[in-house]
Amino acid sequence: MKTELLQRWTVEQSAELYGIRSWGRGYFDIAPNGEVVVRPSRRPDAVAVSLMSIVAGLRDRGLSLPVLLRFEDILRSRIALLNESFQAAIREAGYRGVYRGVYPVKVNQQQQVIERIAEFGRPYHFGFEVGSKAELIAVLAYQDDPEALLVCNGYKDEEFVDLALYGLRMGLKPVLVLDMPEELELILDRSERMGVRPCLGVRCKLTTRGTGHWSESSGDRGMYGLTVSQIVDVVDRLRARGALDMLRMLHFHIGSQVPNIRTFQDACREAARIYIGLVQEGAPMGYFNVGGGLAVDYDGSHTNYSCSSNYTLQEYATDIVEWIASYMEESGIEHPIIVSESGRAIVAHHSVLLFNVLGVTRFERTPPPEQLPERAPEALGRLYEVWRSLNLKNLQESFHDAVYYRDEIRAQFDHGLTDLRCRALADRWFWAIMVRINELLADTKRVPEELRGISAALADVYHGNFSVFQSLPDVWAIDQVFPIMPIHRLDEYPSRLGTISDITCDCDGKITRFVDMQDISPVLRLHDPDGRDYILGVFLTGAYQETLGDLHNLFGDTNVANIRVSESGQVEYVREFDGDTVADVLSYVEYNPVELVERVRGKAEQAVRLGLISPQDRRQIMDAYESGLRGYTYFER
Ligand SMILES: Cc1ncc(COP(=O)(O)O)c(C=O)c1O
Repeated sequence: MKTELLQRWTVEQSAELYGIRSWGRGYFDIAPNGEVVVRPSRRPDAVAVSLMSIVAGLRDRGLSLPVLLRFEDILRSRIALLNESFQAAIREAGYRGVYRGVYPVKVNQQQQVIERIAEFGRPYHFGFEVGSKAELIAVLAYQDDPEALLVCNGYKDEEFVDLALYGLRMGLKPVLVLDMPEELELILDRSERMGVRPCLGVRCKLTTRGTGHWSESSGDRGMYGLTVSQIVDVVDRLRARGALDMLRMLHFHIGSQVPNIRTFQDACREAARIYIGLVQEGAPMGYFNVGGGLAVDYDGSHTNYSCSSNYTLQEYATDIVEWIASYMEESGIEHPIIVSESGRAIVAHHSVLLFNVLGVTRFERTPPPEQLPERAPEALGRLYEVWRSLNLKNLQESFHDAVYYRDEIRAQFDHGLTDLRCRALADRWFWAIMVRINELLADTKRVPEELRGISAALADVYHGNFSVFQSLPDVWAIDQVFPIMPIHRLDEYPSRLGTISDITCDCDGKITRFVDMQDISPVLRLHDPDGRDYILGVFLTGAYQETLGDLHNLFGDTNVANIRVSESGQVEYVREFDGDTVADVLSYVEYNPVELVERVRGKAEQAVRLGLISPQDRRQIMDAYESGLRGYTYFER
């Protein structure tokens, strides 16, 4: 059976197994030689480029794994797709306003990402959203399109407000969105002093709640924004100061990764009523900002599951345009400019983390003996019976019995009532039962909840050269699921089931949730190591991961390569960034590398004086120490 699979396995089966054609959205696929390829333009006639060949190119240039690849053309494609989807929806619906999207900087603040978004967004007057002073300071240097918006959310102090107003004076289009009512007086005072009249917005707290991890961002008791009564109060204060004409934008954000389109409908309806109310109060308004939340289909299932989305980008744009149009028309109000702050959907697809597998801890499957030994304790006899009588109809009962008798023998062993051999036999029968149950489960349609952990318990552990905490913090923090798969050997049957551990010494440094077409799987099908490099890719990692990552166990930033791929398959290594060196990460935690060298040199010299090492040894030790300081924090071959 296994040999047959080995011979018959095709790349088509790999594509189905890993779901690459669903979550890959045309950007990623598998070539007939079994390697993952990237095609940033998604045009079927464009030449696809193998990730393995990109890795080889990077290695030739001295950049080793782990490495984060950023495909600039995918970023371009995502920006075009978002803007063109809204433009198409606007044309189709005869909508009388335009779309002016902004990119929320918090989702990926890296300089090269911001620079490229400013460049690729220019044809669409695509702007930025900032949520802090630091983000504003970064964007002021890169935004130069007077038509594009600069939405200023977040808590604002005087410096923040002044900087935004300077942006206005330099010809930019900042909108200062009130996140707290107290910000109003500060903004009005600073604007008067500077002699400018900025656009203001209000972020409203909707009763509509998002779902999943970010649902706290919305709802009546949500942390951010103004309640309706606070908004009315803002209107009164603006009117009293003769500044109601500044109120131009209504903004809401119901949370990130909203998998169900219905949630947006409820939010838009509620926000539209508030918007209409503000127009009726005499505010000019003009901008309807639907915030972020546009979901990424990480598992490719196209459902309302939390790591998926039950709508396409085009459906999202079409629905938003149609809803807003219909609410405004009911009240005879002009169609506003539609603003969205989609971050995840813009940047997620463009980054891929690649790491090599350093080793595999295999699950040992030593079969138990056929016969029960003489004078075996009763519990061992019972366990043996469970093993012999196991079948598809008594899976759950056998599982319970096996756990019960295995634990009983362990307890007897702890009290000195059975010997070491008996305990070892109990373990062997127990695991033989688990292996058999797992095989039988493959033939059942619904795996009972309590048996779901068995496959993970039997799986091999693939040790990857990366840190979950540094490169995939959301896997650790919020159980985020990213598509993960080998980037080569996909024309071979992946005969092993594995989980992945990283190289931090932390029991949380692991991945045990994988994309599966039916559900989330605790194990991933992987290939038997064959002595050559085995490289895995974690896809759709461009959103939120880079700056949330931390230095656990002092594993620093990975190497990064910005790549461009032309339609003819030409690869341009645009920029490479060396990951942190050991000296870098040590200085982040307040060591001084020069002092470290001095201290070790002192120690080595003392060892020479004491006759423990020779001066030549000292030299060798110092060379190794200094080269370690200059080296990569990850495993180097
Ligand atoms: C105010 C605001 N806008 C936009 C976003 C981006 O959301 P997403 O990445 O889901 O598009 C966020 C992030 O949570 C946010 O807080």
